[in-house]
Amino acid sequence: MIALACDHGGYEIKEAVRNYLENQHIPYKDFGTYDTQSVDYPVYAEKAARSVADKECELGIICCGTGIGVSMTANKIKGIRAAVVTNEFCAEMTRRHNNANILCMGGRVIDEQTAVKLADIFLHTPFDGGRHENRVNMITEIENRENS
Ligand code: RB5
Repeated sequence: MIALACDHGGYEIKEAVRNYLENQHIPYKDFGTYDTQSVDYPVYAEKAARSVADKECELGIICCGTGIGVSMTANKIKGIRAAVVTNEFCAEMTRRHNNANILCMGGRVIDEQTAVKLADIFLHTPFDGGRHENRVNMITEIENRENS
């Protein structure tokens, strides 16, 4: 299950990704927003991020105007590694090296076609593990220290 969320700034690219998931028969849960009326991105980013942290969803794709606000929000949730991505190389590498579990994109930064391409790469690229596993574990250790 893929968690989707957006604010008004990310609505169009979220819809493009949602249509892609429909066409590919990839199950998703859409946490909103559901139109272009102005809303507060933390509300929606938190819902999607919690569903990934709680393992209801395996991965998330969340969008706002830049991708930055939703990523800052999602990264406050324990267990979330959310990455703002604007190109194909980073979409691949954030899965391979960072084991990112949420892809963040900006509707005022990239077009719908690019958003779908980046989502496709993100969803189909596995984590490399190995030396990268240790580094990702180090991020988790920092998170645990911070919250203790
Ligand atoms: C909304 O205007 C905009 O601030 C939001 O979509 C996002 O870009 C914040 O990071």
